[in-house]
Amino acid sequence: QTGRTLSEDEWTALIEGRTPDLADRLFAQARAARDEAYGRAVYLRGLIELTNFCKNDCLYCGIRKSNRQARRYRMSVDEVLACCTQGYAQGLRTFVLQGGEDPWFAQDKIVAMVRSIRRQHPDCAITLSLGEWPHDAYAAFRAAGADRFLLRHETADDGHYAMLHPTSMSPDRRKTCLFDLRRLGYQVGSGFMVGSPGQTARHLARDLAFLKELNPHMIGIGPFVPHRHTAFRDEPAGSADLTLFLIGCLRLMLPRALIPATTALNSVDAQGRMRGLAAGANVLMPNLTPPQYRGSYDLYNGKATSGLEGVENIARLRRQLEEAGYQVPLARGDSAVAVERA
Ligand code: 5AD
Repeated sequence: QTGRTLSEDEWTALIEGRTPDLADRLFAQARAARDEAYGRAVYLRGLIELTNFCKNDCLYCGIRKSNRQARRYRMSVDEVLACCTQGYAQGLRTFVLQGGEDPWFAQDKIVAMVRSIRRQHPDCAITLSLGEWPHDAYAAFRAAGADRFLLRHETADDGHYAMLHPTSMSPDRRKTCLFDLRRLGYQVGSGFMVGSPGQTARHLARDLAFLKELNPHMIGIGPFVPHRHTAFRDEPAGSADLTLFLIGCLRLMLPRALIPATTALNSVDAQGRMRGLAAGANVLMPNLTPPQYRGSYDLYNGKATSGLEGVENIARLRRQLEEAGYQVPLARGDSAVAVERA
């Protein structure tokens, strides 16, 4: 990992001083760094949105506990396995199980589900994105066959974290989780929202500095988008251009990271997916959630659920990528960063 980094002051100045011309030069360097680390490969991950029940109450999120208008659902293990089978047939070799922090999905249920997927798909990577757990639960998921875990830090500034989350949530606990996951030998993903209420360039500089320290295998960022049933309903959405600029910064800072062009980016910019790749990203996450649930995993207004976002159009997505000069390997697409051993 030979990426360059800047001080917090320098990141702040770079973000505040960004111009379209500077962004273009950044993107050219970011593409070169990505191509050197991973070639022209774009890795696909099948996203399965397991449950939208959540015990947390993050102020920005449409599936927060106190949103009484959310239509709640949870998938059965059989439904999850059917999604994986469908995804496998479409060439996906990573399954990402994401959900709210749903107490119904207790540790033993997740362990059993991971074991079943592992048995059916020994050649696939299993990624969990299921929030905060004690060290021993993460260890049990890992022993059951999970390879990767996504847990965004959301914001590295403690004051800003407190503004976005209820007091029952703690930024220190979240960071402890991330370091626990790493020590357990997971490929770890983290990340943050761009343009969340109250965010400054200084906060973003802290996010970059925190990620440099964590050195995660994967980094997901996307613009904040307001949700109509939250207190942030009237706040402006984060900027696609700033998100792209930060993808470019992240690629130069951590050249071997796997960086998705996220659904949120594609939801605020119709060209977000291809622009994300042109800024240095190298992962896309087609949605494998059954159509009857997709609309209910409603994190923010206007979340893209159809078109090239959906697994049903994966052949078209592949064609578009290949026409743009990318390759879409039939492979797990593991991180090029060595995984820490417990
Ligand atoms: N806008 C953008 N992203 C959001 N997330 C949750 N709510 C929103 C929103 N309103 C993101 C969080 C979370 C991920 C699954 O979705 O960063 O980690």
